[in-house]
Amino acid sequence: MLKILGIETTCDETGISILEFDGEYFRILGDKLRSQFNIHKKYGGIVPILAAREHKKNLPILYKEVFKEAKISPKDIDYIAFSNGPGLPPALVEGKNFVVKIAKELNKKIIPVNHLIAHFYSVLIPKNKKNIRQKIRKIEFPSLGLLISGGHTILAYIEDFKKIKKLGETLDDAIGESLDKAGRLLGLDYPGGPKLEKLAKNGRPIFNLPRPMSGYGNYNFSFSGLKTALLELVTEIKKYNKFNEETKKDLAASYQKAAFETLLIKTKKAYQRFKVKNIILAGGVSANRTLIKLFKKVFGSKKIIYPEKSLATDNGIKIAFTGYFFIDKAIDYKDLDIDPLLKI
Ligand code: KG4
Ligand code: ZN
Repeated sequence: MLKILGIETTCDETGISILEFDGEYFRILGDKLRSQFNIHKKYGGIVPILAAREHKKNLPILYKEVFKEAKISPKDIDYIAFSNGPGLPPALVEGKNFVVKIAKELNKKIIPVNHLIAHFYSVLIPKNKKNIRQKIRKIEFPSLGLLISGGHTILAYIEDFKKIKKLGETLDDAIGESLDKAGRLLGLDYPGGPKLEKLAKNGRPIFNLPRPMSGYGNYNFSFSGLKTALLELVTEIKKYNKFNEETKKDLAASYQKAAFETLLIKTKKAYQRFKVKNIILAGGVSANRTLIKLFKKVFGSKKIIYPEKSLATDNGIKIAFTGYFFIDKAIDYKDLDIDPLLKI
């Protein structure tokens, strides 16, 4: 059986996992993930150089731990899958240095994995559970893909996962980044996305916010104006001393609604234009259950495909998993390069 070690260091999560494959079946033998929220939160966003420092510190520790958990030795693995982009250059460099070192020591080949594509593949993993034999999920194509994360907002036509064609993307802030910034304006810690979702649960979407670019005929997005609109609203509310807990809940609900309806408007447009079997949501923001509910309501629940919540955000499992589908692209460590701007 084929064993793949997966390594993720594109942003602020250090992830190392070991997956074992047997035809259409696989098993998660070990998985270690260390988030850096506490390091970056006082800065209100990710500081690349600190992310790199943390990866450098965490990689050898998690590497030891993951093999201990999997109860195998490093020489038992067949390949090393590594997400070589897109991402923060200093973070990718630390990941690469580590991967090259172990590939050399173990004499194994490296499978470079595009982080964005790996987000899409994550929907094929039924459960994030260790040591159970699982069948790789099958989905019908063609699909529309909505990749929504802290760094990207991409709408794509997916003929299959090897043929992904970008239809549009954000021209400025990514949706996750926009939710994080809105969270910050409302006094929430980084990352604001999940905290905004919680706050919005008991709020009413009573404030008027724009649905940017919804009138345009293309499939692009823009979220920076939405954040500015929220800032103006908050400034106005503060003048009247009304910036209290109730208002914050209402603002959170209004912001989420505006951001998600903006995604919805463009997805609907593409859905009417292209004949697709379903819509795949992937990336950190697809962990948001309010968003999933909205899409299910509009398109029908059977049409909406999304990852298990714990696999929506960055992790090593999806890197090892995606590596399995790109074994033919395995390379020697001497040929490994990072690509901070890698595209779909
Ligand atoms: O995919 P990801 O882990 O990293 C990138 O590749 O960018 O996505 C991180 C983003 C952050 O902006 C975070 O706030 C957002 O995903 N996020 C959420 C939720 N969980 C994570 N946004 C909304 N609701 C959530 N539950
Ligand atoms: Zn990601």
